[in-house]
Amino acid sequence: MDTMDKFYHIVTYGCQMNVHESEKIAGILSGLGYIACDKMEQADVVVFNTCCIRENAENHAYGNIGMLKKLKAAKRDMIIAVGGCLTQQINKADSLHEKFPYVDIIFGTHNLNKLKEYIIEKRGRKKPIIEIEQCDGSVFEGDVPLRTSYPNAWVNITYGCNNFCTYCIVPYVRGRERSRKSENILAEVGKLVAEGYKEITLLGQNVNSYGNGGADIPFYELLERVANIDGNFRVRFMTSHPKDFSEELAKVIGRNKKICNCLHLPVQSGSDSILSAMNRRYTARDYLNKVEILRKHVPDCAITTDIIVGFPGETEEDFKATLELVNKVDFASAFTFVYSKREGTKAALMPNQIPEDVSKRRIMELVDLVNEHTRSHSARFVGQTVEVLCEGYDDKRSLYLGRSEHGRMVYFDSIDDKKGQFVNVKINEANGISLIGEITEE
Ligand code: SAH
Ligand code: SF4
Ligand code: F3S
Repeated sequence: MDTMDKFYHIVTYGCQMNVHESEKIAGILSGLGYIACDKMEQADVVVFNTCCIRENAENHAYGNIGMLKKLKAAKRDMIIAVGGCLTQQINKADSLHEKFPYVDIIFGTHNLNKLKEYIIEKRGRKKPIIEIEQCDGSVFEGDVPLRTSYPNAWVNITYGCNNFCTYCIVPYVRGRERSRKSENILAEVGKLVAEGYKEITLLGQNVNSYGNGGADIPFYELLERVANIDGNFRVRFMTSHPKDFSEELAKVIGRNKKICNCLHLPVQSGSDSILSAMNRRYTARDYLNKVEILRKHVPDCAITTDIIVGFPGETEEDFKATLELVNKVDFASAFTFVYSKREGTKAALMPNQIPEDVSKRRIMELVDLVNEHTRSHSARFVGQTVEVLCEGYDDKRSLYLGRSEHGRMVYFDSIDDKKGQFVNVKINEANGISLIGEITEE
């Protein structure tokens, strides 16, 4: 190893979109000559790409930034940068600076592309750089020069969100919804497939409203055009908002083999009054109708969801309605969250915030029920052969791992390296959300 080598380390919190933003950050840093490293202690530049969707996401970042104080004192020329959704909240950059005066660069979600300048500038000066910009409506259409998740590749199709669900901070920190041009998206996917990527995931806070901001084609058409690109690859997309989910989209999923038979369709609650207070703009019945339409066109579709418990005003009856809906839909799996009050959102001002002990009891009950459904979905695969895209080797289990079309993690043994290949795996055992099997020629 050359002693002149300089290293970077990125810590990412939050959603898939943030994971993908971190690839863009990695591209910027490697463009500056830095090399990725696993250990923070070894790094000359550390970037925290933060999230603020819930209070614990914020606290997690604060804890980790706090832990760097000693390291920075011992290694003065190390550059610490904090960016992402947390810093973009009103007045957060200043309070971050007060709390962590040794942080060198604080930037927001709308000036990520300036990180290169900030780092160059910072090398020559002592004072921290604190710069948060507001959304100017522009769309990042550039290349993503460094991808870290082969054989999977993420492709943004929209940025921001216009939905203003009353609990959610995203519209405030990511700005208004804007769509990329379809020709640029298609060109990017074509290039990725030619480079050998095997799974393309289209990303947006609400992919179904692609085009609302003036793009040339609706989402279902974009999706079908992506699936029509030549090559051996899979397509996924997230996230779909139920209010914009259409029968056309269900048909496109059903008739295109490359589009995985799974759909993440966050329901949030099974109670109409809570859904209305959340500004979700559908009822439980509407949601169930969409599920029915989806299953009509894609019979074996694995439907997954997000659910929040303890939203302000949630009664025992409202909560029971959520449990009922979980049973009716029979989700393949679900992310479950306790409502977290976010400063600046409408729900933060609502009366009847739910006491912590009530939310805790509800989330435990919900998790138990969701787990039952998850286990029963997994059990259905035992004895079946599923196609798995191998993502790599798991050192802990000493097995290869990958994902099935339905999004289940599958572990299997192999004598040669299968990373990046589609393999048929006969499932012998189900273990919660993951499956274990063996390669077959079937
Ligand atoms: N755009 C996506 C998801 C965004 S965030 C969508 O609309 O579905 C992912 C999930 O975090 C949400 O679906 C929601 O379930 C949860 N979430 C968002 N804000 C939250 C809050 N304040 N408290 C708890 N969970 C929250
Ligand atoms: Fe948040 Fe709602 Fe937008 Fe999703 S659709 S990002 S939950 S405001
Ligand atoms: Fe994602 Fe968290 Fe921001 S969920 S969009 S990183 S607030």
